[in-house]
Amino acid sequence: MKIIGTGSAVPSLTVTNDDLATFLDTNDAWITTRTGIQARHLLSSEDLYDLAVDAANKAISASGLRPDQIDFLLVSNVANRHITPGLSCIVQKRIGLSCAGLDINVACAGFVNALMLADSMIKAGHAKNILILCAEEPTKYCNWNERDCSVLFGDGAGAVVLTEGGAFKDVKLTMISDRDVLYYERGMETTPFEQHYVKGQPLVMKGKELFKTAVTESAKDIQNVLDYNHLTSDDIDWFLLHQANKRIIEGIRHIIGGPEEKYPTVIEKYGNTSSASIPIMLDEMLRANKIKAGDKIIMSAFGAGFVSAACLWEWEV
Ligand code: UT7
Repeated sequence: MKIIGTGSAVPSLTVTNDDLATFLDTNDAWITTRTGIQARHLLSSEDLYDLAVDAANKAISASGLRPDQIDFLLVSNVANRHITPGLSCIVQKRIGLSCAGLDINVACAGFVNALMLADSMIKAGHAKNILILCAEEPTKYCNWNERDCSVLFGDGAGAVVLTEGGAFKDVKLTMISDRDVLYYERGMETTPFEQHYVKGQPLVMKGKELFKTAVTESAKDIQNVLDYNHLTSDDIDWFLLHQANKRIIEGIRHIIGGPEEKYPTVIEKYGNTSSASIPIMLDEMLRANKIKAGDKIIMSAFGAGFVSAACLWEWEV
């Protein structure tokens, strides 16, 4: 398959590190040096569904296809205010689609996992043109009285339209069951028979542990993809990595190799937008004409689970 259109959308409200320091015990110097984040966009007047529709419409318009030519909608989302129906059902009509769809939750690795599914569906002949939409509002599950998680995240949506082609070369998915390092537990209704009632609580994160696992596992996934395809980091033009922490990206780069310029970032502007982070960055790079036909690209992401994934492209236009 190949990507023929991308789109992205972030909320209109920009919140800087200094803005956060007005109500949290934090400061711009700490956040910038420890994470690389300078600002993030937070949902205020819009809702996640508006962002999702905006990003999807932009991707379809860039693809040159009509909405009725999209024959499957794959949505990646960790949580939104609807447990059911899925986000794909909620936005399908507003995007002007009539095709079937599916929601996946593989945390921040959702985009790369969705690419694997799209590739398999296209190869199996189940669909010709697929829209992947990653729409996330992680700021809605942080505890805003605490500085540990709330400074890291931003809201956003990124979308791509895929069709038949030979650009997508390989993908590697990893899952290591370990809930405790990063989780968000929702409270559910209780029944007269319930013996294990769990009250919901905001996102819990063991930052240091997660940092180390992220660097090690992402680097492993990337190296596996490189080795399997008889490539070295010198052969790769771009490493588009999940934007969780600039120091994690640096850690991965030190293992894999290559100059900083091959590891672009948008984390300064958007923070960690979960599974939307890679498609948002890809959209910005394509619109700035940075990616050319023939470029070899590695994408790699990790998140709650612990899950991680990497894939290889040789860009086709
Ligand atoms: O998509 C996946 C989601 N999450 C991640 O990938 C997160 C992975 N982990 C990380 O990015 C980093 O571990 C963090 C950014 C979360 C934390 O950075 P760190 O360098 O591991 O800091 P730390 O937790 O070791 O804390 C160092 C100090 C502590 O103070 P003391 O004990 O040295 O006095 C913290 O209390 O920094 C303090 N601190 C803060 N200070 C100002 C922690 N958070 C903040 C804050 N502002 N927001």
